[in-house]
Amino acid sequence: MAERVEVLLTEGDVDTRIAEIGADISKDYEGQSVTLVCILKGATFFACELAKRITVPVEMEFMRCSSYGNKTESSGDVKITQDLDSPIRGKNVIVVEDIIDSGRTLSSLFKVLNSRGPASLKLCSLLDKPDRRVTEVKVDYTGFEIPDVFVVGYGLDYAQKYRNLPYIGVVKFDD
Ligand code: IMP
Ligand code: MG
Repeated sequence: MAERVEVLLTEGDVDTRIAEIGADISKDYEGQSVTLVCILKGATFFACELAKRITVPVEMEFMRCSSYGNKTESSGDVKITQDLDSPIRGKNVIVVEDIIDSGRTLSSLFKVLNSRGPASLKLCSLLDKPDRRVTEVKVDYTGFEIPDVFVVGYGLDYAQKYRNLPYIGVVKFDD
């Protein structure tokens, strides 16, 4: 089956929106510092660009959860495959995710992170597919709400491909 990628959000759209979110976070945490917990691998591009737009002190941490593998559906069986290497107790944590789909990954991750005693815990996602939600999650900072389509680029992959596209595109499968 042949695949092609159609542009959904241009590089300019994404850059503009990240600057807006960075400004919002800088305002909300004025006089404090934030710890960005980037969820590997998909959120890396977003987390780096976002960090550059935040004007309060930023610490960067990384965490990895089990993913879809080569499929386009979440299994609901979410595991932490690479944990943080520093404690988050007393820190203002913002989890930075690429996309919220069913919500399973984030709701299970939030329980784990909350139990570690952060001063505050918020969620920032570049993309959100609200129509696909199975488990409720509160997204504090959202880049774009998108329809129920499978997207790639800006860190998001399909079978590990297309992460390096500088825009967000929709994968189309031709027969
Ligand atoms: P959830 O647990 O169903 O919310 O899945 C969230 C994770 O699934 C994201 O962090 C992505 O890694 C992956 N994912 C969900 N939708 C897409 C998509 O459209 N393209 C690429 N990855 C996706
Ligand atoms: Mg992800």
